[in-house]
Amino acid sequence: MKTSSELIGRLQRLMPAGIKPKFSSAEELMAWQQEEGRKHCLEVEKLNQRARADRIFGRSGIQDLHRSCTFKNYQVNGEGQQLALTMAKRFAQNFGTGFGSFVFSGGCGTGKNHLAAAIGNYLLERGATVLIVTIPDLMLRVRACYDEGESESALLDDLCRVDLLVLDEVGVQRESRSEFVILNQVIDRRLASLKPVGVLTNLNHPQLSSVLGERVMDRLQMDGGIWVNFNWASYRKNVSHLRVVK
Ligand SMILES: Nc1ncnc2c1ncn2[C@@H]1O[C@H](COP(=O)(O)OP(=O)(O)OP(=O)(O)O)[C@@H](O)[C@H]1O
Ligand SMILES: [Mg+2]
Repeated sequence: MKTSSELIGRLQRLMPAGIKPKFSSAEELMAWQQEEGRKHCLEVEKLNQRARADRIFGRSGIQDLHRSCTFKNYQVNGEGQQLALTMAKRFAQNFGTGFGSFVFSGGCGTGKNHLAAAIGNYLLERGATVLIVTIPDLMLRVRACYDEGESESALLDDLCRVDLLVLDEVGVQRESRSEFVILNQVIDRRLASLKPVGVLTNLNHPQLSSVLGERVMDRLQMDGGIWVNFNWASYRKNVSHLRVVK
């Protein structure tokens, strides 16, 4: 069997003059092969992560309703919305440079999910794994673990592995002690492993503090975490052409 350097030498002799070979030595070929191998491993790991994200809630990371939400189709009407759009875009563009989180707080239909999905879609296109999940869905999944006699720790592990986890409808089940415990665990573990969290909520700052506790609130604001108030009217009422057909 010929060695790599013998093969390269033969190829070089066969090659027409003026053509520059991609590799001029066995070492270069070896380095290229190793680099390709490394890239392949990373791709496989990403696919695994995505499969895990799919498995957690039986769907891909972003609900159909918000799959088409982008920064481009977010309509800006006023300074507040311009700021929200700018902050969301900045978060997406800087993703991976730190572990700062975001909180979008405001009334119904103001576009919190739209901009969170726009961030998610931007990151998914660039190969990141993203999961947007409502707290009621998450709590159902936790309860299913208990019912099946499994510990919730595998679920928490999966939730901690996705690159961006967005927790939606935080505070809807405000009184629930188990929600408090799970949210604390998820946010704590993700931020401890330097993975950001997005929070979407109808609660204001003091209300969210009382749900999450001061410690988690502090953590969400670490490393340049952002808080954006969505304090304008619902966009849903703009869609007045949608009538209920009886
Ligand atoms: N500025 C906007 N430009 C374009 N579409 C928007 C805008 N704001 C909201 N929408 C659209 O309106 C609908 C409701 O918005 P969204 O689901 O993001 O609201 P939300 O703030 O998450 O409300 P809720 O608190 O009720 O969950 C979505 O279909 C969204 O795409
Ligand atoms: Mg919403």
